[in-house]
Amino acid sequence: MAELATLQNKSGNPESASLDEIISPISEHISTFRQFFKDEIDTDVFLLNQIIHYLLRQKGKEIRPTLVLMSARMFGEIDRRSYVAATMIELLHTATLIHDDVVDEADKRRGFASINKLWKNKAGVLLGDFLLSKGLLIALDNEEYQLLQILSEAVKKMSEGELRQLKTAKLFNMTEERYFQIISEKTASLISACCECGAVSSTDDEHVIKSMKSIGLKIGIAFQIKDDLFDYGLDDIGKPTRNDIKERKVTLPLIKALENSTMTKSLMIRRLMKKRKKSSGDIQKIVTFVHENSGIESAEKLMNQYAQEALSELKELPVQKGYEDFEQLTQFIINRKK
Ligand code: IPE
Ligand code: IPE
Ligand code: MG
Ligand code: MG
Repeated sequence: MAELATLQNKSGNPESASLDEIISPISEHISTFRQFFKDEIDTDVFLLNQIIHYLLRQKGKEIRPTLVLMSARMFGEIDRRSYVAATMIELLHTATLIHDDVVDEADKRRGFASINKLWKNKAGVLLGDFLLSKGLLIALDNEEYQLLQILSEAVKKMSEGELRQLKTAKLFNMTEERYFQIISEKTASLISACCECGAVSSTDDEHVIKSMKSIGLKIGIAFQIKDDLFDYGLDDIGKPTRNDIKERKVTLPLIKALENSTMTKSLMIRRLMKKRKKSSGDIQKIVTFVHENSGIESAEKLMNQYAQEALSELKELPVQKGYEDFEQLTQFIINRKK
């Protein structure tokens, strides 16, 4: 419980370590990963070259490859398999982001115009498919069947989660239980795979591998709650905010605010949220409602709990080195500004 308090105090604390500081103990490994990634994405792609070039200019935070490498390092040595896993995962992640922006009709990603905005939906779908297949093929090229198994499973779950979310927005029947199922599938499954694949690449210990999968799932849930909180914030996060509201996506801050408020007020907000075309006044009312009914704090509380549970579970494992680095990365995930 004392640890939970520490995590909560750090929430939103601008002084918590930067990502550059956090990755510095493994910076050489990150460089090797980047080279792997570039080599994979660069080859045999004359038709796609223009878009790929654009894509390479804007890398993301690389949280997933960092999780892979740090998970590997805690239980053995980072080796070729770790880089293969990290590269596959970043490719799959990039592919799903491109598809996700088509689905969400988002016009911005990583501070720049999204692929669908610049090249239209068709190109987004095709490029996403290309990166997805490329990501899975790396495993075959390297005869890494266990990684292929884990990641194919994760990709399947991600698609299921995105579809479930689409259907839930259409029917407008979100519940807290369904929310957790959706975020576990669409986001946490891949983050779970990061930790699992990292462990697989450096140890044979089945208990460790299984636990890392479970730890990753919890971190992934916390990660998506943080992302959903951004939609209600004021910061520039390099991608659109209020998009979840526009797309009728009911996420944890709103679920909690509706729960905390009176029946009449909640009904009124649900009616606004349900509208397919919302005015900026409608959107502002929903945002204010969430802030005034402790939606932010309630969601943050659950996010912190998931992160804390993940770290407690990690404490039980025979970590050889780098526990603190992993802990800091987890803290970063729930304290980050974008
Ligand atoms: C964004 O992931 C997609 C979600 C699952 C919310 P990141 O925030 O890790 O995206 P990049 O790679 O840093 O841009
Ligand atoms: C995560 O959900 C999407 C993926 C699994 C790719 P979001 O739709 O909230 O992600 P962002 O906010 O667009 O990055
Ligand atoms: Mg989106
Ligand atoms: Mg989002």
